[in-house]
Amino acid sequence: MNILLLGAGGREHALAWKLAQSPQTDYLFIAPGNAGTATVGVNVPIAATDFEAVKNFVLTNEIGMVVVGPEDPLVQGIYDFFKNDAALKAIPVIGPSKHGAQLEGSKDFAKAFMMRHNIPTAHYLSVTAKNLSEGIAFLKSQKAPYVLKADGLAAGKGVLIINNLDEAIRELEAMLNGSFGKASETVVLEEFLAGIECSVFVLTDGTHYKILPVAKDYKRIGEGDTGLNTGGMGAVSPVPFADKAFMHKVEERIVIPTVEGLKSENIDYKGFIFIGLINVNGEPLVIEYNCRLGDPETEVVLPRIQSDLVDLLQGVAHGNLAEKELRIDPRTVVTVMLVSGGYPGNYAKGKPITGLENVKTGLLFHAGTRQEEIAGQACNDNHQIVTNGGRVIAVSSYGDTLEAALNQSFANANSITFEGKYYRKDIGFDLTKKNERTKHP
Ligand code: AMP
Ligand code: GLY
Repeated sequence: MNILLLGAGGREHALAWKLAQSPQTDYLFIAPGNAGTATVGVNVPIAATDFEAVKNFVLTNEIGMVVVGPEDPLVQGIYDFFKNDAALKAIPVIGPSKHGAQLEGSKDFAKAFMMRHNIPTAHYLSVTAKNLSEGIAFLKSQKAPYVLKADGLAAGKGVLIINNLDEAIRELEAMLNGSFGKASETVVLEEFLAGIECSVFVLTDGTHYKILPVAKDYKRIGEGDTGLNTGGMGAVSPVPFADKAFMHKVEERIVIPTVEGLKSENIDYKGFIFIGLINVNGEPLVIEYNCRLGDPETEVVLPRIQSDLVDLLQGVAHGNLAEKELRIDPRTVVTVMLVSGGYPGNYAKGKPITGLENVKTGLLFHAGTRQEEIAGQACNDNHQIVTNGGRVIAVSSYGDTLEAALNQSFANANSITFEGKYYRKDIGFDLTKKNERTKHP
């Protein structure tokens, strides 16, 4: 079967790496991909949201399955585009319908869904210009800090956590006046939850589900979880506190009601559900849903899946996921993200990357890279890999312990160079216990 994977980041390189290993994969294409995906498949210069171009490509290249990496094509309805097109409708798209993608595309939708299905989450109120005074009263009824969320997609920047009540009220007014454009026409106010977070990934065919390895990501740019939010500076799987007892609660209280809730509301959902959880004194609550895999969590989750991913996705497409086996590597995998100097603010692109060949033990997943021709060099080897984004390369390693995996990734991170390279040297800092063996799924 020929497979088309949409997207261009570290998540997509990890997906491409795993899809390419399947004996069921003939040709793997990635649109648009990066320098890393080009090493395991064929990049095609098509934007993931250009549905007409995707259609043309799928039909001319006999694509048998489309796997969607990022949320944008899903929220814009690529699943429905295929279903409603006579020539495309037999070709499975791994990802939810536009309606299902609202779990990520609208925080108000997600909260209302959780209410309908008794899924534990923070108390909230959705506010528009029409009920601003109610919103202010809600903020006044809460203790600091105050949590304000733009309803719509805001490139990961739409959540504000504010310590001062007057400032929170001013921000609420600014959001309703368009500080995040249309995304903040509705604002979700939430009770602040104190706890430690983790990411649970569920693969579903709409009826059955598999819970993939649990991960924890590190979003802040600075060590000790300080400074600005980024797309993710590293990740760890498994997560020691997500033990059997905790995961049992997650499955019973959150995963099953989510999958059954989608089905009972006739929401087509055949793909990944990303559940952002917070552990409050041993009790799991949902912070957010996403309609895709996480990045950089994918760079630690997929290396722990021993089963054939294409076979699992066939189960999703054909509704027989329950018959498929999910085998998980018991070892720990960590990833450390190398980023461009200045990120998440302004940063330069096009910096040559060297030392990739030094990494003999471990996995490198490219996030923001591209191949560039070296001017004037007319031999076969006239390309170099250069930086092409804020997040550049995810350096993933296996280990029998968290410490061993981290040491390998830090050693590998040191041996790769590009101008302005930065990475956090404390990934996993809140999970490390000396000599702890991490053996939970
Ligand atoms: P979200 O985009 O909804 O995942 O929010 C981004 C981040 O804000 C989360 O990963 C949490 O760290 C934090 N956050 C969101 N909602 C809450 C909440 N109700 N209480 C505490 N922290 C929150
Ligand atoms: N790592 C969080 C996300 O992918 O949204």
